[in-house]
Amino acid sequence: MVDLKVKLGKLELQNPIVTASGTFGYGVEYAQFVDLDTIGAITLKSITLKGKVGNPPPRIAETPSGMMNSIGLENLGLEHLIQSCLPKLDNLKKVKVIANIAGHTIEENIECARELNKQKRVDALELNISCPNVSSGGLAFCLDLNSVDVLVRGVRKVYDGSLIVKLSAAVPDVVKLAGVSMEAGADILSLINTIPGVEVDVEQRKLFFSRGSAGLSGPAIRPIALKAVYEVAKAYQVPIIGMGGIGSLDDVLKFMIVGASAVSIGMMNFVRPTIATELVVELREYLSMKKLKLSDLKLQ
Ligand SMILES: Cc1cc2nc3c(=O)[nH]c(=O)nc-3n(C[C@H](O)[C@H](O)[C@H](O)COP(=O)(O)O)c2cc1C
Repeated sequence: MVDLKVKLGKLELQNPIVTASGTFGYGVEYAQFVDLDTIGAITLKSITLKGKVGNPPPRIAETPSGMMNSIGLENLGLEHLIQSCLPKLDNLKKVKVIANIAGHTIEENIECARELNKQKRVDALELNISCPNVSSGGLAFCLDLNSVDVLVRGVRKVYDGSLIVKLSAAVPDVVKLAGVSMEAGADILSLINTIPGVEVDVEQRKLFFSRGSAGLSGPAIRPIALKAVYEVAKAYQVPIIGMGGIGSLDDVLKFMIVGASAVSIGMMNFVRPTIATELVVELREYLSMKKLKLSDLKLQ
């Protein structure tokens, strides 16, 4: 039997297949389709301190080889996550649970992290730095390295478990962003988030999404994601969760070969809700057939 266990710093996963934030609800929504306990880890939808109603519709659009979304971080807030969502995952014994926070100020993120630090069902915390920092004019955290530094240091101080910083590739220098995140206390990096884009409603001669810009995900962004993972892995010795357009075993292997220790499945959960569990089986069969170990998956 091939050993699929991976260690991302202190975080041990039974296998390297993870589900990406915002594409797998709070886990329980998928329990009717798959045995959640066969997945390496599930990442919960981003939460904010008080919750958010999100953006008005339309919220999604199909694109060639992908989709765009402008959900606007709709969520019911930290308290709801703790009281209502986490207890529903209590019966799971093998899958790790990664909570994801997307506060709009440094203080909001710190407050969420402090509370999540007390939650036994949370095995790791992912910090989504692609959202706007309202105290500095609404510029996304990831576009201001100084804000990233202060934010990650602040969260690090109150969170004792594995801290994952989720990087965007829509920045001037993703390697620099990775370095600042690590220096400030990230144990693990996850990348990439969606890539901003614009869709147009030709009939109405209007922008399709109410906020103009929306996030592109799916196979269309895979080469961008692979480049980001490749460059960060080449620059630093850091556990990486790679994501962006993964839809097949071949894609999983590509991310691992360029340096990811684990991979996250996003948009493709909507196409095939069973994909994460299937990829675990396919990865095991592939390694067994090729007589390879996970550690053999690296650039030659
Ligand atoms: C509908 C949708 C909602 C998402 N919501 C979140 C979110 O709340 N927090 C987050 O960190 N990433 C969110 N993402 C980004 C994904 O987690 C992932 O980083 C990105 O989609 C790239 O992976 P993919 O191409 O496999 O989907 C969302 C993506 C989609 C498609």
